Amino acid sequence: MPALIPATEPLLVRTPLLDSLNPDPVPVSGRPVRWGVISTGRIAATVISDLALLPDALLQSVSSRTQENAEAFALEHGFRSAYGDDGGIPGYQRLLRDPAVEVVYVATPHTSHYPVAKAALDAGKHVLCEKPLTINAREAEDLVSLAREKSLFLMEAVWTRFLPSVQRAAEIIASGELGEIRWLQADLGFPAPYHPKSRLWRRDDGGGALMDVGVYPLTWALISLGRPQSITATAQLVDGGVDSDTALTLSYSSGAQVQAMTSLTAATPQTATVCGTKGMLRCNAPLFNPSELTIVSSSGEQRVEKFTPAGHGYTYQLREVIRCLQQGLLESPTMPLADTLATMSLLDEARSQVGIHYPAD
Ligand SMILES: NC(=O)c1ccc[n+]([C@@H]2O[C@H](COP(=O)([O-])OP(=O)(O)OC[C@H]3O[C@@H](n4cnc5c(N)ncnc54)[C@H](OP(=O)(O)O)[C@@H]3O)[C@@H](O)[C@H]2O)c1
Repeated sequence: MPALIPATEPLLVRTPLLDSLNPDPVPVSGRPVRWGVISTGRIAATVISDLALLPDALLQSVSSRTQENAEAFALEHGFRSAYGDDGGIPGYQRLLRDPAVEVVYVATPHTSHYPVAKAALDAGKHVLCEKPLTINAREAEDLVSLAREKSLFLMEAVWTRFLPSVQRAAEIIASGELGEIRWLQADLGFPAPYHPKSRLWRRDDGGGALMDVGVYPLTWALISLGRPQSITATAQLVDGGVDSDTALTLSYSSGAQVQAMTSLTAATPQTATVCGTKGMLRCNAPLFNPSELTIVSSSGEQRVEKFTPAGHGYTYQLREVIRCLQQGLLESPTMPLADTLATMSLLDEARSQVGIHYPAD
């Protein structure tokens, strides 16, 4: 195991950023939390640059399928050790044996979330795992049971929930300012050129629009209206059996409805609009990281609230993981495991209606 950075404890420096990211009235302990990162891919690099903004996050170890990639990533981002596949042992398994690692961030493709997160929990590590948590609800239930059995923290990395703009939207909706919520529209689509080897399009990689971005419109539905009574899906499937475009209708016992759209072919507005009996709220694009909320009352009065996120916007969920670990919480009240299980069940049901099946099902 190459030691890349001298193993000295960091000095915890309180900063306005740290304070602004810690809205909880119970103060954080300030204890440094040692992170391991599994993957050197695209999202891992972006999220880690935000993790580095947090003074009580210690970048301990990174793993990759190759030692070369792991070391290059470690040097670039300041990790202390790097693990690649070696002698038939996957790099991530080697990282999980590192006793210094307390929590792992899993940022590998969808289909590996379950085996990698399970191995991490089995090794006694807390887990923050990219979305979707798993390929199906059965795998998700298994991870949740394992985390609870072992008293370990587990969270799906739905970073959008922790953004100040989205927290504010949830606050406005809960305040009753919009009245009773009756209708919600949310979409996330972008044209992704078809490539048979891309994880977005490969069935074996859990490809398709719904699995890649469905969690974002569903997040707006869950924070605005909670869990629906039923879901109806229609989809356009491509040759490999994954969806290029999926439309969802969620129905609630109150009579409220959600229309959600995911697409890998169309440049969609990428917004969410929440409509109630007294007014509506619309976020600007992209709905996964909005910087503006427009609130329009039923009488036509309008106001705009603006937000500037810290870093790329991932700092808030990372701050939450650290806060939970420092305070001994095993799940985040802002992104509860029950909501992850509800989302995975909705995705399962939608997939079964339109005929999307993955090898793990
Ligand atoms: N929260 C967000 O905003 C956001 C944005 C994009 C993606 N994501 C999620 O993050 C995950 C990764 O997406 P990405 O775009 O970063 O993908 P990516 O660029 O393809 O990176 C994934 C990395 O995982 C590693 N890997 C590949 N196959 C693996 C396997 N079978 N087992 C273990 N590791 C493997 C590779 O790193 P090594 O070469 O180092 O092994 C690869 O570079 C997806 O689940 C996606 O849904 C989230």
